[in-house]
Amino acid sequence: MIRHVTDDLYQIGEYVENEYGFEAIHIYVMLNDGRPILIDCGSHIHRESVMAELDEVVGDSVPEYIFLTHSELPHAGNIAAVAEKWPSIKVIVSNVMLPYIEVLPVLPLEQMTQVVPSTTIQSPTRTVEFLSALLKDQPGSHWIYDSRTQTIFTGDGFGYFVPESAVGALSDEISGGIATQWLADYHRVAFRFLQWIKPDRLNADLDTMFGNRPVSNIAPIHGGVIRGAEQVQVHLGRLKTALAAVNQAYWSEK
Ligand SMILES: [Fe+2]
Ligand SMILES: [Fe+2]
Repeated sequence: MIRHVTDDLYQIGEYVENEYGFEAIHIYVMLNDGRPILIDCGSHIHRESVMAELDEVVGDSVPEYIFLTHSELPHAGNIAAVAEKWPSIKVIVSNVMLPYIEVLPVLPLEQMTQVVPSTTIQSPTRTVEFLSALLKDQPGSHWIYDSRTQTIFTGDGFGYFVPESAVGALSDEISGGIATQWLADYHRVAFRFLQWIKPDRLNADLDTMFGNRPVSNIAPIHGGVIRGAEQVQVHLGRLKTALAAVNQAYWSEK
């Protein structure tokens, strides 16, 4: 499903059903004045549909970069297909293992770059900055900030499960927004280590990250975009509540 988010930012991808409802597996595209930038490339199980959607969104343009938040299959599962379709694309990764295996037969190794947090990539109308993910399920997972649309792409963070009625919706299209419980269910399942965190410290780090730059949108891979500065503040608060509740539930069950 292709959704226009704001300015030159598009959300595409599919959903999978699980015991909690439906989970998005999204890809983001910034058209970037004819030099598109992709964030992740979706699951291999959706290859046919997402490659068709990518083709439709970029049109005649050739994507210049693909950034992978991390190398799990729902995020990197179509990297070989993307590289075959656009062989000049530069692949930017936080972790080389899966891209190395998948990309090497298709692209010269020089087209793949591993970057560290605080690295920035400039183009005429935007700066893209790599951030150390505050919620990660692989060492080195990145969140990515785009200055033009003031969007943080949060990989697995800020994901949520939705009922069928909210499939494909952005946060401002859901009555009442994204429920704290949807965020809590997803984060409990996706980040099994939440038992061991100190919620106050993690939540303070989230406040710092969001306080250090203007954020108008949050773009999780496993959820629709949290769109608009007001929605960002509401849902940052809900995520912090959810993380503390998930942590607390482990200890109150003992
Ligand atoms: Fe992941
Ligand atoms: Fe994921």
